[in-house]
Amino acid sequence: MTKKRVLTGITTTGTPHLGNYVGAIRPAIHASQDSNNDAFYFLANYHALIKSQDPVAVHQSTAEIAATWLALGLDTDNAVFYRQSDIREIPELTWILNCVCAKGLMNRAHAYKASVDANLADGEDADKAITMGLFSYPVLMAADILMFGANVVPVGRDQIQHVEMARDIAQRFNHIYCKDKPLLTLPDYQVDDHVAVLQGLDGRKMSKSYGNTIPLFLSEKQLRKHINKIKTNLLEPGEAKDPDTSTVFQIWQAFATPEQTESMREAFAGGIGWGDAKKQLFELVNGELAEARERYNDLMARPADIEAILQSGATKARAIAAPLLEQVREAVGIHGLG
Ligand code: TRP
Repeated sequence: MTKKRVLTGITTTGTPHLGNYVGAIRPAIHASQDSNNDAFYFLANYHALIKSQDPVAVHQSTAEIAATWLALGLDTDNAVFYRQSDIREIPELTWILNCVCAKGLMNRAHAYKASVDANLADGEDADKAITMGLFSYPVLMAADILMFGANVVPVGRDQIQHVEMARDIAQRFNHIYCKDKPLLTLPDYQVDDHVAVLQGLDGRKMSKSYGNTIPLFLSEKQLRKHINKIKTNLLEPGEAKDPDTSTVFQIWQAFATPEQTESMREAFAGGIGWGDAKKQLFELVNGELAEARERYNDLMARPADIEAILQSGATKARAIAAPLLEQVREAVGIHGLG
């Protein structure tokens, strides 16, 4: 059986939080340990430049995200783990894809359209603060995907359109340049509906843009403090509580076994106090993360070790990217004259 090639990128902005962990990191790490998958995970630091022009923050986030994935047990023997900017072939492929990608396709991209709409709603020029990076973001993402012949791209719902665009662009390229022997593999997206979308401290979706996150590797003390800040209603101990509208319960569920979830459900019905429920939530979350937190702190203190791991990932990745790029260049008429 040929293995399925699974590839996904993580934009290096911000510090990973519990929502990222439950929604993306934990399932990806499990997948990396499955030897039926040929998994590729990378730090999308060129994508980060679209969102952030703070060099210190981009650099710091790259280190934090790399250390997070490694600390949580990413299997770098089974999965190829690399940094986008180390693969020189990706920006080169991006340009070639730009030249087959219709501008009209990019006009339809949600992220770009949302920025235009926000500008217009504010009575501003439609293009205010919109860079070419934002506009052509899906082409870079297409190059990330097509460079490695990915079959399956696990993403959040907001990224489905981008994978579909990668597919369109690949089809277009194949149609123009290599009808008989398609060079680019058409990718499919994969959205996992079973993973929880975690609520944040204020009950809305946990997201950096709402400022309501619980960072993944806080110290124990800070983790406890954050959990204590989760918004609850005013019901007293002894009063029955509704688990299904509670952020405390929702986060509990994302970390608990089915049995633990059931017994917390009963505790809610039996009127467990919020303080008590939060204390138990802290123990549960801390129990899952404590060892990884130590490995994380250790790695963050040894950035050269992270760098070495990324370099070895880049070597593996380029061994795949370079020959495909050669074929692509050849197909479009860019090769030696001899
Ligand atoms: N754009 C994705 C996000 O913001 C990250 C990303 C970049 C990506 N390149 C990718 C995801 C390639 C999957 C495949 O979440």
